[in-house]
Amino acid sequence: MDFPSETKSASTSSTPFKSSNDDRIVVIGAGVLGLSMCTLLQSRLPARLVTLLAAELPSTSPDSSPAYTPSYASAWAGAHYRPISPSTPQLHAEFKLAQRTFEIMKRIASEKPKAGIKLMQGVEYFDRPGKGELGMKDGDVYAGPEDGFRVLQKSDLMEGVKWGCEYGTYCINVPVYCGYLLKEFQEKGGKIVSRKIGDVKQAFSLNEDEIGGEVSTVVNCSGTNFGKDPKIKLIRGQTVLVKNPYHRTVTRQYADGRWATLIPRPLDGGTIVGVTKEIGDEEETARPEIRQLLLKQSIECFPDFVEKLEDFEVISDNVGRRPFREGGLRMEVEELDAGRKRIVHGYGAGGRGYELSWAIAERLVELLNPGGSVQATTVLP
Ligand SMILES: Cc1cc2nc3c(=O)[nH]c(=O)nc-3n(C[C@H](O)[C@H](O)[C@H](O)COP(=O)(O)OP(=O)(O)OC[C@H]3O[C@@H](n4cnc5c(N)ncnc54)[C@H](O)[C@@H]3O)c2cc1C
Ligand SMILES: *[C@@H]1O[C@H](CO)[C@@H](O)[C@H](O)[C@H]1NC(C)=O
Repeated sequence: MDFPSETKSASTSSTPFKSSNDDRIVVIGAGVLGLSMCTLLQSRLPARLVTLLAAELPSTSPDSSPAYTPSYASAWAGAHYRPISPSTPQLHAEFKLAQRTFEIMKRIASEKPKAGIKLMQGVEYFDRPGKGELGMKDGDVYAGPEDGFRVLQKSDLMEGVKWGCEYGTYCINVPVYCGYLLKEFQEKGGKIVSRKIGDVKQAFSLNEDEIGGEVSTVVNCSGTNFGKDPKIKLIRGQTVLVKNPYHRTVTRQYADGRWATLIPRPLDGGTIVGVTKEIGDEEETARPEIRQLLLKQSIECFPDFVEKLEDFEVISDNVGRRPFREGGLRMEVEELDAGRKRIVHGYGAGGRGYELSWAIAERLVELLNPGGSVQATTVLP
């Protein structure tokens, strides 16, 4: 079974949408999840059927960088892929999503250089490693198959660090990547409605003149902005974007819960120096003392990057909110109006939205189209 498509004869595809094949899909959200979803839907449906609706959108021009709110998480991510050892069922499920997404990101990195993704080395340092880390040995799968995983020798670890490793991963220049996905969607005929709505259900009653038909399916990739799900907890993250370049992504987790990380932004986007994890902290502006702390931690942990405070070339202080959800992502279909309308939910990625993005979009499309398997690798943006 497949999505109805103009290039396939109607007889080979039973319709996954309960009314006419001409019904519109509205994707709410232009974060990494909504954009990945639009890309995948557009590859399987006539372009005119898919509309993206969002209050905040990435810029498609390299010369303009709009001022975003901290709630638009995708604008503030590093972003790197940093595996987490699968010690719970939820983390195990996420591990699979992350590995699947890695496959697609690798292909984008090699085939679509303008997208802003680069393969590079990842390094981890733990002051307090868990059982998962301590049980690993050279050659194990950490980020994905053949990632060159290697445990670092004790003699290579800085003071305080008890365990470290290196492996192959990737980093994303997030404004470039999101702008790239949006531009591709638009150029292939996707419609964009830039608007804030008060309730998900309003997306069903978008003006027909605007989108050309009746809406039967709404995709809820709204991150956190509707704020109605009691399981959502915001986790504030402050970082500093600096001009100084770096060649790999590296993270240290201190015993007291602090994090020090460097995340290069490919295509000369500088480096993100991070990061804080402040649960429930609603402060929207950057705290100067946190900037100082992050830069000092970087000097302490990564002396091969920048040696002294005066050598940092700061571009901006960033504050974003991770859309964390207790129990993990919500990937679920909700039927309305006696099954004539559907909402498919895709939110709650916390600090992992980029590294899980393609696998989440595949899962959501499969939920809309039961029985069909979806391979994003065949439809690179
Ligand atoms: C400091 C920091 C560092 C991070 N680092 C990483 C990393 O290294 N790797 C990684 O994978 N992830 C990282 N993340 C997490 C990542 O940014 C998020 O998981 C991801 O961006 C979530 O994307 P999303 O599409 O779910 O939501 P969002 O990016 O928040 O997008 C939500 C979209 O919905 C729209 N919307 C919401 N409400 C409405 C409404 N009422 N009407 C209209 N539109 C609406 C918004 O305008 C927006 O377009 C980091 C996050 C932070 C804050
Ligand atoms: C849609 O997503 C938001 C998160 O932004 C969530 O709070 C809400 O419960 C979801 N569903 C509806 C119908 O609003």
